[in-house]
Amino acid sequence: MTQPNLSSPTSALTDAASPLTQEQLKTLVGQAALQYVVPGEIIGVGTGSTVNKFIDALASIKDQVKGAVSSSLASAERLRGLGIPVLDCNEVERLAVYIDGADEIDGNGYMIKGGGAALTREKIVAAQSDQFVCIVDASKLVHTLGAFPLPVEIIPMASRRIMAQFAAKGAQAAIRMKEGKALVTDNGHILLDVSGLQISDPIAFEAEVNQWPGVVTVGVFAFQRAHVCLLATATGVKTLRF
Ligand code: 5RP
Repeated sequence: MTQPNLSSPTSALTDAASPLTQEQLKTLVGQAALQYVVPGEIIGVGTGSTVNKFIDALASIKDQVKGAVSSSLASAERLRGLGIPVLDCNEVERLAVYIDGADEIDGNGYMIKGGGAALTREKIVAAQSDQFVCIVDASKLVHTLGAFPLPVEIIPMASRRIMAQFAAKGAQAAIRMKEGKALVTDNGHILLDVSGLQISDPIAFEAEVNQWPGVVTVGVFAFQRAHVCLLATATGVKTLRF
């Protein structure tokens, strides 16, 4: 793993006697991401509980935000709740910055995403952005991707074959369920969660799985990796640049 460039903590947080909860770490890193919002620009906004903290923090500077392109219906609703206009991706040529969380991130800025089922739109908005700023707490930083079950958005009629293709790699794929039924994404597809993977070459892995017929999006973000990671730790929010 390439050694990330760790800059010094942006703030001293706590003493060992009162460690911060994961919730507090998410709040801190959500607030830290405000520094990447360019006044008067349209921003790309991701999905998840850490991004929700970022959106909550945006309230303090909402008058400076021209608008947002969102990666999910849930984030769009939260943004609109603040009075921030939400634009369709096709209305915008490029975004200066995309701010989103991750389920895992490694020392090269490669990520696993999709725990919140929004991976396809996340990859689309990330591809349209000049800079991906990933906001996570320190538990998400890993040496090798794969301990978190990999989300893969697929077309339902291909599920049996794609599950067999993962089984041939020694992994186990399961359809993500919600209230007794297969979860349906914002795009009308279903998701597999794949455990038992060790993704030592994320670029090769993403390229390979992307080509399997029926795969809509694989939750490895190597081609759309992070450029910056704001990492909330017990001693402060650290900045990793890749
Ligand atoms: C949603 C995602 C999220 O960024 C990822 O699941 C992290 O979420 P959280 O901040 O709630 O831990 O990829 O599809």
